[in-house]
Amino acid sequence: MFVESRKKLRELHKIYVILTCNTVEQALASIESGKFGLAFASGLAATTTVLSLLKNGDHIVAVDDLYGGTYRLLEKVVRNWGVTTTYVDINVEDVNSSFQNAIQPNTKLIWIETPTNPLLKIVDIASLATIARQNQLILVVDNTFVSPYFQRPLELGADIVVHSTTKYLGGHSDIIGGAVITSNEEIYSQLKFYQNAIGAVPSPFDSYLVLRGIKTLAVRMREHETNALHLANFLQNHPKVERIYYPGLPNHPQHQLAKTQMSGFGGMISLELKGGFAAVEKFVSRIKLFLLAESLGGVESLLCYPVKMTHGAIPEAERLKRGIKDNLVRLSVGIEHKLDLQTDLENALN
Ligand SMILES: Cc1ncc(COP(=O)(O)O)c(C=O)c1O
Repeated sequence: MFVESRKKLRELHKIYVILTCNTVEQALASIESGKFGLAFASGLAATTTVLSLLKNGDHIVAVDDLYGGTYRLLEKVVRNWGVTTTYVDINVEDVNSSFQNAIQPNTKLIWIETPTNPLLKIVDIASLATIARQNQLILVVDNTFVSPYFQRPLELGADIVVHSTTKYLGGHSDIIGGAVITSNEEIYSQLKFYQNAIGAVPSPFDSYLVLRGIKTLAVRMREHETNALHLANFLQNHPKVERIYYPGLPNHPQHQLAKTQMSGFGGMISLELKGGFAAVEKFVSRIKLFLLAESLGGVESLLCYPVKMTHGAIPEAERLKRGIKDNLVRLSVGIEHKLDLQTDLENALN
């Protein structure tokens, strides 16, 4: 009797684990317009698993502005596998030629984020998908910054979408998770093998929390964007702000492109403060509603100082070359009242 019920419990537990993880994978695939989804224990676990498609001697072309942890993985781990990466500056007139010129005979994969972290540059997904197809490369898009609510790269021709579900998909800064979505069956079966072989899978409870987060994604994203647009307009006219990066502002260099491939501009803003690092220190010490945190995409507003936090792994010279300056602050605008957030920023800046 006891043995029987133990057996049943174990069976039920197995069903609970598998069902929750499978359900979140299907939900993620569905909202990204993909056929197949895979869930992971973190965004970096998802990234590592995708990069496992590469072998000694292979080459990656990546955008030069990307999450510091991805850069660290490419340079400190993947390079040791014998896989090298060339970074493309996308602040040039003819970005497509820059990507084309970076492709080598051994290039296997193009890795982009758009909008990029932390400078919110926009990369033309459809054009890169054409380049990838012509050169038989895999195009991977890290879609963490705006979520599938505002942008669905597979619809624009990308092969793989990667997410840190820690961010907008979870939405409440209380889980760590990652996801990979594709419609390519061959890529999916290879990734499914690596997901199992590497084993960086999520817990059923984290999977459940992502599922719950997805239910409110639309309302949260709309609110993040409304607040971010309001604050970007306020900040761009503030005398203490040297420069602002937000793709929703008409003066953002890629605003038109952003409008064509995204249905909204998201909740992330970066800004450079007048007065260098000293001004950043003062600002951070005075701000109250924006919590100092590496993460982003939660309902509460967060603030990050990329040079010392998210992009601390990038050597100084390399970082400066990429335009990540000491006076840069990144805001993840939450869903609090926009006037409360504005007052908080105003008090901290003045
Ligand atoms: C764009 C982007 N991709 C991936 C990651 C990694 O995600 P995780 O922290 O879940 O490993 C991050 C983390 O900040 C990120 O900003």
